[in-house]
Amino acid sequence: MGVCTVVVTGASGSCYGMRLIEQLSLAGHELTVVFTNAGREVTAFELGFQLPTEDPRVAAVALATYLELPSADGLRVAYPEQLFDAIASGSYRTDAMVVAPCSMGFLASVAHGMADDLSERAADVMLKERRPLVLVPREAPLSLVHLRNLTSAAEAGAIIVPAMPAFYAKPESIDDLVNFVVGKVLDVLEVEHHLFKRWGE
Ligand SMILES: Cc1cc2nc3c(=O)[nH]c(=O)nc-3n(C[C@H](O)[C@H](O)[C@H](O)COP(=O)(O)O)c2cc1C
Repeated sequence: MGVCTVVVTGASGSCYGMRLIEQLSLAGHELTVVFTNAGREVTAFELGFQLPTEDPRVAAVALATYLELPSADGLRVAYPEQLFDAIASGSYRTDAMVVAPCSMGFLASVAHGMADDLSERAADVMLKERRPLVLVPREAPLSLVHLRNLTSAAEAGAIIVPAMPAFYAKPESIDDLVNFVVGKVLDVLEVEHHLFKRWGE
């Protein structure tokens, strides 16, 4: 898969984004990670991980340390305000982008082409370039607005992998539930993984 962008928004379920970053990094993919401002706050609240906001290189090291990665090599953090970052341009080769978890606000921006900050612009670029954009929405219940935005995003080419773990694999822990959803994302990206036992295995 190669070069990937992961955006962690302010929907509940920062654990999905974090597990995905961990797995893609361990598999040797080059990553640009953007936490939206709400994503940074919800991650701090849910997981206790405080993303440093002064220097993206310090943030990348802090992220790698939190995830216990062997190193921060190949891991880059960009801030939403950094509109001049490479991922804002279609001429930068990004092979895939995942928004996990994806808030309803971010979904609305994607569905309507708002491109208001780096993360939204990066998603807009993936759609216009016809490159894989995976959204992992989390909200309940879903309003008609949410459902219409999901449809618009899917019509524009986004792949929707809802944060809906299955139970046929007999999960025993929260980790198992998280791994199921993240494994589904990796399946879409065609990245090999052993996060869950496949049906029939
Ligand atoms: C603790 C917490 C949990 C939230 N959970 C969700 C959620 O599951 N889904 C959602 O769409 N918004 C959720 N929100 C609201 C979003 O964070 C909010 O709409 C924010 O503006 C989204 O901004 P972003 O898309 O730039 O990250 C939550 C907010 C907080 C504080």
